[in-house]
Amino acid sequence: MTNPTPATGPTSTPAPILVTGGTGTLGSHVVPLLREAGHSVRILTRNSREPAPGIEYRSCDLLRGDGLDEALQGIETVLHLAGGPKGDDEATENLVRAARAAGVRYLVYISVIGADRIPLAYFRAKLGAERAVAESGIPWTTLRAAQFHDLALTLAEKMGKLPVVPAPGGMRWQPVDARDVAARLVELTLGEPAGLVADLSGPEVYGLGELVRGYLKSTGKRRPLMPVRMPGKVGRAYRSGENLSTVGGASGTRTWEAFLAERTS
Ligand SMILES: NC(=O)c1ccc[n+]([C@@H]2O[C@H](COP(=O)([O-])OP(=O)(O)OC[C@H]3O[C@@H](n4cnc5c(N)ncnc54)[C@H](OP(=O)(O)O)[C@@H]3O)[C@@H](O)[C@H]2O)c1
Repeated sequence: MTNPTPATGPTSTPAPILVTGGTGTLGSHVVPLLREAGHSVRILTRNSREPAPGIEYRSCDLLRGDGLDEALQGIETVLHLAGGPKGDDEATENLVRAARAAGVRYLVYISVIGADRIPLAYFRAKLGAERAVAESGIPWTTLRAAQFHDLALTLAEKMGKLPVVPAPGGMRWQPVDARDVAARLVELTLGEPAGLVADLSGPEVYGLGELVRGYLKSTGKRRPLMPVRMPGKVGRAYRSGENLSTVGGASGTRTWEAFLAERTS
């Protein structure tokens, strides 16, 4: 993926950084870090919110695009975190089109490890979004991260409610703390466009059963685990570790156990 050189130009009052998804799990760690670094932030959200010091909000659903041109007015840098189970490719195409028209100079995107290797609709949409960013003509950086601890916790909580917990054999996760991802994204956003950078995963690889066992232990619950086999090409992709960081990837510092200890203490 190639990356054009960023344009430079005079800036009197620093433009706010537009953060899509600034209200989400990752965004809620990113925004205070940008503020601590002295930047004002404009958050794009589907809902309306009251401004706070250095933080303004603009309403826009990226899948529809209404209000996007206004949200991008005066913006030089966009940190694109907004995402959902479906449509990240379409939402990103809408954002890219409007950002190009608005003269945005730098676009940073959060994707997921395995975007190019896991045959599931969510991963395909993330790859489509990556391509939209890379082909935007705007200088860009994309970081692929592993699943966040928060998502692993949501999954473990759901599985921990079952009388018997299914544990897909050979499926491994390398969950990363959203705070580690936020810190890396802020570094990338305040740095130079770098294209597709090294993956960021957590410090340890766990079998899915181990993740759930860790959660059960931290909450004092007991459940039997039943090994199951995930069928088809999705199962094969997970068993071959296509969702894990490739060689050269970086690791966050916070472990699953440390995260659980914070959440359940
Ligand atoms: N969670 C993970 O394990 C993981 C791993 C790797 C990469 N990622 C990526 O990291 C990003 C953030 O994940 P997260 O877990 O922080 O997500 P999250 O907590 O579910 O938050 C999603 C955010 O996206 C915004 N959003 C969703 N659809 C939108 C739309 N159509 N238009 C405008 N805004 C929209 C939401 O804003 P409002 O609700 O305020 O409108 C919210 O701020 C996503 O792109 C995700 O794919 C996540």
